[in-house]
Amino acid sequence: MASSLARTILFTAFLFSTLAIHEAVADGNSEDTPSLEEIRHRLKSQKLTRLQFYMHDLVLVSDPTSVKVAGVPGSNRTTVNFGDLYVLDDPLTAGPSLTSTAVGRAQGIYSFSSKDSITLMMSVNMVFTGGKYNGSTVTVIGRNAVLNKVRELPVVGGTGAFRLARGFVQISTAILDAPTLSMVLNCSLYVLH
Ligand SMILES: *[C@@H]1O[C@H](CO)[C@@H](O)[C@H](O)[C@H]1NC(C)=O
Ligand SMILES: *[C@@H]1O[C@H](CO)[C@@H](O)[C@H](O)[C@H]1NC(C)=O
Ligand SMILES: *[C@@H]1O[C@H](CO)[C@@H](O)[C@H](O)[C@H]1NC(C)=O
Repeated sequence: MASSLARTILFTAFLFSTLAIHEAVADGNSEDTPSLEEIRHRLKSQKLTRLQFYMHDLVLVSDPTSVKVAGVPGSNRTTVNFGDLYVLDDPLTAGPSLTSTAVGRAQGIYSFSSKDSITLMMSVNMVFTGGKYNGSTVTVIGRNAVLNKVRELPVVGGTGAFRLARGFVQISTAILDAPTLSMVLNCSLYVLH
């Protein structure tokens, strides 16, 4: 009992000393670095934001947004193969047309990581360029079973307006152009931040 109390006190002391160090480090940084107090306030006053946008993943076109950088040697370039690895920088727009208002980019990598279905492992930073979210990012890491009607991927963090974010994004295919392996994805992003 007494030793457990002692442990608790020690741990609490450790926690506060760690926080104090972090605060000191934070104070020495740029003006945009939040104080520990601001972070605490932010945690208490979390809000849920929903963003609706479209992601354009264009592959076998003259100006691709997604390029294959590795794959099993000899695999067919015009199909998808287990092991293919792509790097993407996909435009995000407000409407399903590529010419509708730009709201950001989805930058990262995905790999075909299932031997018996078209399933991606995605690791993508979504950076927003519109209004109050300009420059803010969310990081999406998860499984995308492309042929499922709705896929859900976790949001594991964020920066700027989305500091301390967690949430999820639901993705469905709005337009599929099989010959060019291209897709317009309908994204509904929900973030607590
Ligand atoms: C690649 O796949 C396409 C579509 O299935 C097929 O038409 C083409 O013949 C294949 N090419 C090779 C070199 O196997
Ligand atoms: C977003 O921020 C960048 C860099 O600060 C700035 O150049 C750009 O004009 C901003 N865009 C909007 C829509 O506010
Ligand atoms: C995209 O998804 C939203 C939310 O589910 C839906 O309201 C909208 O109609 C969809 N857009 C298209 C083009 O399918």
